[in-house]
Amino acid sequence: MLRTRARSQADDEPAAVAPPAGVPTLLVVDDHPAIRELLRDELIALGYRVMTAPSAENALALLTGIVPDLVLTDVHMGAMSGVELCARLKHDPRFELTPVILVTAAADLDARVAGLAAGADDFFAKPFDFIELRTRIAALLRVSAVLTQLERAEGVITTLGLTIEARDPYTGGHCERLSRYAVSLGQALGAADATLKALRLGGYLHDLGKIAVSDAILLKPGPLDDDERQKVETHAAIGADLVNGLRTLDGVRSIIRHHHERWDGSGYPDGLKGDAIPYGARIMAVVDVYDALRTARPYKESLGHAEAIEILARETDGGSWDPRVVGKFLEILPEMR
Ligand SMILES: [Fe+2]
Repeated sequence: MLRTRARSQADDEPAAVAPPAGVPTLLVVDDHPAIRELLRDELIALGYRVMTAPSAENALALLTGIVPDLVLTDVHMGAMSGVELCARLKHDPRFELTPVILVTAAADLDARVAGLAAGADDFFAKPFDFIELRTRIAALLRVSAVLTQLERAEGVITTLGLTIEARDPYTGGHCERLSRYAVSLGQALGAADATLKALRLGGYLHDLGKIAVSDAILLKPGPLDDDERQKVETHAAIGADLVNGLRTLDGVRSIIRHHHERWDGSGYPDGLKGDAIPYGARIMAVVDVYDALRTARPYKESLGHAEAIEILARETDGGSWDPRVVGKFLEILPEMR
């Protein structure tokens, strides 16, 4: 028999239960008041903070103000199903890491398939086994906490990239532009999602190793001599070493190390040639060169767009850059600009 609550709760209003600080907040969405209350009482008894909503629409309204640690939602509700609610949450950057559990009948395979496509993290069947539910919620919250920590670490590293850029007043906005150009070019080339993510971060991190290059060289108002040039060239390998051990940056490391390789093998640090150069690094190299040509330095003016693409095309004919990548870049540049 379902337990009922002593205090009344208006069904059309989201409900919050005052929690101790630091306790995970769960959002329960179900159109049946009795099930909502049962879940709420049991989850509060397990030590969680619980908010409830009687519909997906109501949940979305509630979520404009809070980010719960986990969402537990029924599938079959009013106009908007729990599957659609799940899909909307997973497409919203604020909630993409928030675990979503769909409550389905064990035999409802259609709902489970649709739920998987919508990005659901787990399923739970009625009637409820609260020991099992407790175990699953605890496991999802642990994974979610680790992902959140990793995302914060990425944020710190990205900020470091911007800090390095800020040392050089001539390169303002270079990282942000590279990130944007590289992702657009990767998309146009049909690169996989993992490559696109690496390109986004790589835009900020490709020159991370410049942290080891002195201001006297980095900001020298004139061309570099051989010794200075060699010191600058160490930035590719040093930057890659700096992110060693950060597994979430695995795909970015090869972009950092190889973004100065050249298609004909004349680049650095490893003199890789052709397809041996990681794909992401070939993409980053092209957008990096274009942006460098368009940027003023103490010893050179910024070039106009036409002149920059003329040089890029000439260098590609000369064997410096991947012709397919450059071809696609020149194709999409007009709409990116
Ligand atoms: Fe570089």
